[in-house]
Amino acid sequence: MSPVPRLLAVTRRMLLAAPVAAAMAVLPATSASAQPWVFAPATPQAQQITDLFWFTVVISASVFVLVEGLLIYSSLRFRRRAPVPSVEPPQIHGNTRLEMMWAIVPALILIGLFGASVRTMAALQEVPADAYTIEVRARQFAWDFRYPDVDLQTTNELYLPIGRTVTFEITSQDVNHSFWIPNLSGKLDAIPGRVNRLSFQATEAGQYRGVCAELCGAGHAGMVFRVVTLPEADFRQWQQNTKAGVQAAAAAGPDPERGKALFVSKGCVSCHTLSAVPGANGQVGPNLDGVGTRAATRVPGESAEQYLRQSLQDPQAFLVPGYGPLMPQIPMTDDELASMVALLLAQK
Ligand code: CUA
Repeated sequence: MSPVPRLLAVTRRMLLAAPVAAAMAVLPATSASAQPWVFAPATPQAQQITDLFWFTVVISASVFVLVEGLLIYSSLRFRRRAPVPSVEPPQIHGNTRLEMMWAIVPALILIGLFGASVRTMAALQEVPADAYTIEVRARQFAWDFRYPDVDLQTTNELYLPIGRTVTFEITSQDVNHSFWIPNLSGKLDAIPGRVNRLSFQATEAGQYRGVCAELCGAGHAGMVFRVVTLPEADFRQWQQNTKAGVQAAAAAGPDPERGKALFVSKGCVSCHTLSAVPGANGQVGPNLDGVGTRAATRVPGESAEQYLRQSLQDPQAFLVPGYGPLMPQIPMTDDELASMVALLLAQK
């Protein structure tokens, strides 16, 4: 390539890189207060990851500025000028010292980055013996959290005690997902048939957003959950209250109003539209408006109630035409199932 087109190419490359560099410089300042972002770490573990991130960015940015700067300088300083020389300038080949340098310096930088990464990974693996365990089960397209010590389960809502390291035992019911609360920790895959462990300690009370960080199907974008961190005493109180609420509702019998609450808390809203439930506008599965009438006509010999009960317990037993076998088995107690059926039956 002759010098002028080369200079143009370099300039174009610089112009393309400039907005990226500008964005990198601006992001930390504007996002410190914003919630779902790795630049506002709220646990010692997230802080370590953020420190490693900045270490890498500073080194990469220095190399970028140095290399591009030398490129621009050489392009301008040694460009072809009038009068064009009639003889070829002296040709140079090989410089052992320079070549050694540009092999050794990048190697040292890479070794440094490798060492820093390994050190951070090792630090993140350190888990105290009294860590509190929460089981995480991902499914298309929701998160189920179980607190084994009190046998309590929630969906898309995660409460954490502060000042205590929590170990998450993460798995999946169907396809690969990825568990990620950007302010609190790095991400970890949720894989069917396997339990992955992630630990961190919340240190301040707050509310955060968790997401699925692995493309897992049509409802991936809606696979979000709310995280609340609170002092351990309040956390225990929340556990008791929630559990008492679940037991009271179970004793009260089937109730369409409870069905609405379950429709939200079980994550049904991210896949189905149902006008009776605010926020239920998912497009992945069939629209459920009027399903109470339709249900009686789906499978010959099955009443509306039988059909709805079966659809909830064994979603693949009958597929509505035009929809694939996407609906997962949703964990539900008998009384929860009864309230869900009551809600759907009422949709005439
Ligand atoms: Cu689950 Cu994306």
